[in-house]
Amino acid sequence: MQIKQILAEAAVGSEITVKGWVRTKRVQPNVIFININDGSVIHNIQAVAEPGIINEDTLKLITTGSCIAVTGTLIESKGSGQRVEIEVKSVSVYGTADPDKYPLQPKKHSLEFLREIAHLRPRTNTFSAILRIRHTLAYAIHKYFNDNGFFYLHTPIITGSDAEGAGEMFRVSTLDPKNPPLNEDGTINYKEDFFGKETNLTVSGQLEGELGAMALSKIYTFGPTFRAENSNTARHLAEFWMIEPEVAFYELEDNMALAEDFTKYVIRYALENCADDLAFLENRLKDEEKSKKADERSELDLIQKLKFVVDNEYVKLTYTEAIQILLSSKRHKEGKFQYPVEWGIDLQSEHERYLVEKHFKKPVILTNYPKDIKAFYMKLDDDGKTVRAMDVLFPGIGEIIGGSQREDSYEKLLQRSKDVGIHEETIWWYLETRQFGSAPHSGFGIGFERLVMFVTGMGNIRDVIPFPRTPKSAEF
Ligand code: 4AD
Ligand code: MG
Repeated sequence: MQIKQILAEAAVGSEITVKGWVRTKRVQPNVIFININDGSVIHNIQAVAEPGIINEDTLKLITTGSCIAVTGTLIESKGSGQRVEIEVKSVSVYGTADPDKYPLQPKKHSLEFLREIAHLRPRTNTFSAILRIRHTLAYAIHKYFNDNGFFYLHTPIITGSDAEGAGEMFRVSTLDPKNPPLNEDGTINYKEDFFGKETNLTVSGQLEGELGAMALSKIYTFGPTFRAENSNTARHLAEFWMIEPEVAFYELEDNMALAEDFTKYVIRYALENCADDLAFLENRLKDEEKSKKADERSELDLIQKLKFVVDNEYVKLTYTEAIQILLSSKRHKEGKFQYPVEWGIDLQSEHERYLVEKHFKKPVILTNYPKDIKAFYMKLDDDGKTVRAMDVLFPGIGEIIGGSQREDSYEKLLQRSKDVGIHEETIWWYLETRQFGSAPHSGFGIGFERLVMFVTGMGNIRDVIPFPRTPKSAEF
């Protein structure tokens, strides 16, 4: 039986077996306490043994990190905190953990240290809580879309197109890098490759997602995406998971409403289903906050912050309006933004965070960005200068969602792809959807790890994915 089930429903007096990893052992003259965790829940179960029940040799092997099975009777706990504990009848040891070598001792370890032992960190309270919340959010995402008539579309990982047109791709090739076949002009001849052309790992499933929406009306993708951008920040990974709904007949306003409803639903789902893990992470954060300067401390606790997002309407404004707010801010006037503000700039994280954390103090949906800073597939506004783009900005995170209404006119899309240097032959299939039964459609992408960061309150994206891939780190 898993510890979660035992704590919730097992009857006092019943005989049970618990299998898990030892967190702590305390040997007293008249009694031995062993705390066991199996990852099913944040709580440990305490096993209580009278001396003599566990023989001396076995007792020595039971150390922090070892894996054991305990059989005994479930009794009411005499101590506070837990309803029940196990009165031990027998113990067997699956695997020992040499105390001189096992790196996770029962004390607080820094997140930096734990990143170096990504193979063991899921055994800590913090990481097991994050991984359970991550799972629950993934489940809530599928549930939301399924309940709302969306179909899960599996888009390819290996692709010939660069959906975002930003050139940040990992190449996929079977050619010998030391001796590749060459064309007459000295460039690599990808025609001799396995795929017969240049291919890369996908940066986004959107373009294929659009093909799905133009047949099934409402689809979503949920898969790994890859960006070879050399950004060593707390919000970027080289491999991250993205969820991308795409809906036929949706205009930008419908897309915004979907983004708001969807994010509120999954956050609410986590609040309702991960209460113990969230309470644990909230306490952890409170400790962390104490070491910060008073003016840097968060005004709200983690759970209050999540409830605030769920209960309040997101602010909606255009990029142009946002620029006006930034231009009239004290921070701009005092020259305190690192990147100067003017219409046309790609908003930097400092600008986004100013808007969300200082000005509005709420999630913000920014729309109608200048076309030159956005991808080629976004629908041009009537002014010819801006596109029907939307970014959703969250407190503490910045951009969590990027999306848009898509260009549905064949001529305009062809022109835009030419303008940005995308060759027609690489996206002929995408262009064709605008020739055969084109329709208005919209969608967005939400970075799964950024969502998990927001819900768990973690400050570094490397701590919300089991095995982070960042520049120069992909050990496991
Ligand atoms: O804004 P992005 O680049 O948009 C797209 O890829 C569109 N094709 C989405 C769509 O319309 N279907 O990325 C979408 C989101 C960002 O808002 C961010 O949350 C996340 O993906 N993201 C990253 N997360 C972690 N590490 C990175 N390097 C990320 N790059 C983007
Ligand atoms: Mg973006």
